[in-house]
Amino acid sequence: MSQAEAVNYLIQAIRSYDPGLFDHSLGVANLSLYLGSLLGLQWGEAREVLFPGAMLHDVGKIYVDKSILYKSGPLSTGEWEVMRRHPEQGARLLAERKLDGLLQEIVLYHHERWDGKGYLSVRGESIPFLAQIVALADAIDAMSVDRAYRKALAPVQVRAEVRRCRGSQFASCLADALERSGFWPPDTGEEAVVESLLARERQWLARLVEMFGDLRHPLVQAQSRRLDRLVTAYLQSAKARAPE
Ligand SMILES: [Fe+2]
Repeated sequence: MSQAEAVNYLIQAIRSYDPGLFDHSLGVANLSLYLGSLLGLQWGEAREVLFPGAMLHDVGKIYVDKSILYKSGPLSTGEWEVMRRHPEQGARLLAERKLDGLLQEIVLYHHERWDGKGYLSVRGESIPFLAQIVALADAIDAMSVDRAYRKALAPVQVRAEVRRCRGSQFASCLADALERSGFWPPDTGEEAVVESLLARERQWLARLVEMFGDLRHPLVQAQSRRLDRLVTAYLQSAKARAPE
């Protein structure tokens, strides 16, 4: 089995275990590539390593019972133990299939925090750079969509959370790069500025279509959904600001 076939096999395993987990993986892969492009990552590395690594970051969750994955209340100590093992289980699955070590690193370290308070207590620069990107993309995606226990956060709330966790959960250099790149909604709600932000997101959609050459590519669809959510969020906040 080639690397590409092994990656696809594992992606399909995620999809058949839980379509919701597959959608989350797509959202994280899309955001990881987008962040990678803003950080100046080479497209070849992004496509060959970051993309499959991000798609498979949660593959270890196929060993976690859905009653734990989707529990709305707090997890018991035993359940938490099971949950915490998913990065190691995932990395082991990749190792068994002889997948590239860089992919294994992304999977193994995607729950690490810059301050060393993550699952494996690896800190700072010792966390592989691509795993830092996936960790940030994972957090942004998780906050941006509805969950069983809460509604999706608005883009300005997601921005506030990433700013708050700069240097603790997330690498300062990544948080700063997002500030400089125009990734976030502007501080002012001026229409022209919002328009330029949405234009960037549309450009990313166009880039994905160009790179994958297929409108039906799952990443293209993931970015379409992201764009839809952003447009809806802005329309809602514009409506809230409008005088009665
Ligand atoms: Fe995870």
